[in-house]
Amino acid sequence: MVGLFGAAMAFISGAAVAADVPKLKCTRVGQTVIYRNQKFTCVKKGGKLVWGKGVPVPVKSASPTPSPSASPSASATPSATPSASPSASAASPTATATPTATPTKSQIKLANSSEIPNGTVKVFQGGRTTGLVASIVLIRDSAGLRALSAECPHAGYLVQDNGGGQLICPAHNSLFSAKDGELLRGPSSYGLSRYVVTESGGEIFLTL
Ligand code: FES
Repeated sequence: MVGLFGAAMAFISGAAVAADVPKLKCTRVGQTVIYRNQKFTCVKKGGKLVWGKGVPVPVKSASPTPSPSASPSASATPSATPSASPSASAASPTATATPTATPTKSQIKLANSSEIPNGTVKVFQGGRTTGLVASIVLIRDSAGLRALSAECPHAGYLVQDNGGGQLICPAHNSLFSAKDGELLRGPSSYGLSRYVVTESGGEIFLTL
């Protein structure tokens, strides 16, 4: 009986652990992914690439006012205006605000839009003040607003603006494209991860 109970508990525990691992396949050491508000890093174990232990991502509330967070996705649909659908008035306004959002996603405010004018390359370091686990570099240029990992995959130093649409790591001179984080020159073996960033109501949010 005890043996049966133990086996059942082991099965349940194993299922719970498996459910907490990202479904995305881990393809290279150092690859990171945010999954269920945890950051996972790809490591090598026993000759196999597997996701390491998840590190919780501290999440600030998206914004004190519920309406601005709705606008990035809601702007695409004309029904976003309250007057457009009289039948919706019975429900709360926020219930229909983000039809495309998934419950696992959350947003962290990075900056006010006015702080990131065109031509800006700004690094936000991970920590309590930013609410970020990983450091992020925000870039705004003629191609729009983007967020990339600011941590060089070679040894973790923070990249900085190199001009000409490039980011450089001052430690050993790895070079990356500021457009999409693509690796332009080693010694790093990998490019910079890209994050989803949205702008709404004069504020910039990182979506996890
Ligand atoms: S840490 Fe960036 S090149 Fe070495």
